[in-house]
Amino acid sequence: MVKRHRIQFPKSELSNLNQDEAYFYLQGSGGNRKIRFHDYDEIYQVQGLYEQIFYDRLKCTSPTKVTSILESAVKQSQDNFSELRILDLGAGNGMMGEELKKHGVSRLIGVDIVDEAYDATIRDRPGIYDAYYVDDFTKLDDDKKEEIISWQCDCMVTVAALGFGDIPTKAFIEAFNIIKSQGWVAFNIKETFFDASDESGFSKMIRELIFSRYIDIYYIERYRHRLSIEGEPLYYFAIAGRKNSDVPDEFLASKGIMA
Ligand SMILES: C[S@@+](CC[C@H](N)C(=O)[O-])C[C@H]1O[C@@H](n2cnc3c(N)ncnc32)[C@H](O)[C@@H]1O
Repeated sequence: MVKRHRIQFPKSELSNLNQDEAYFYLQGSGGNRKIRFHDYDEIYQVQGLYEQIFYDRLKCTSPTKVTSILESAVKQSQDNFSELRILDLGAGNGMMGEELKKHGVSRLIGVDIVDEAYDATIRDRPGIYDAYYVDDFTKLDDDKKEEIISWQCDCMVTVAALGFGDIPTKAFIEAFNIIKSQGWVAFNIKETFFDASDESGFSKMIRELIFSRYIDIYYIERYRHRLSIEGEPLYYFAIAGRKNSDVPDEFLASKGIMA
């Protein structure tokens, strides 16, 4: 059985902090260690800590939600969910992979930018992924790209990994362009990314992509992604659609988005 950790949330209100600046203390024999929510490398090194914080305590529902809307979208077509060959971008320690595998999928390829995510997946969920690459999709070299393309993925998912300094536009578009045309795309984003007032490159890209001819949207659902550290619901959109064709650089440039 995985050990429970002694974790403590800070005493003072954190509502004025950005979501990516939130932190907690891990209590141990050496004293209290302060860890930010975005210190994934540190979190993954401690077995069960990621699950305890985000799933047990903060009630994250996103892998289940994104899997269910993807399944509903695929059901509207002639395709079979169990035949999907899925690229999981920002796979972390395999929470989404585990959810997808419960439903049965044909191939599952994980990608993350930190070594610790891969190590934790092998330690905690061995055998979930057919291959798992630690790479930066903004600088994918040609050999690695060819290798990933050779898995012939016809679906990409990315869960709890977009925005907040995580997966940037260029990496998202690279993955989108790696999967086959007529392939499936499912991801979640914080609801504020849909505000026209959010001028960040990632928000603009998502808004432009959703209304573009490169994708047909099948589902958009607002739901509670998880609780904040203060116990407030954090709302996200889960989105599923079908890719029509690759997004060319010119499209992003014409919208004033830096890829
Ligand atoms: C909150 S975790 C989500 C992990 C998993 N998808 C889940 O639902 O539990 C975000 C993950 O995105 C990864 N990530 C951040 N930036 C990335 C990038 N540029 N390319 C690939 N992965 C990235 C982080 O290392 C981290 O493992």
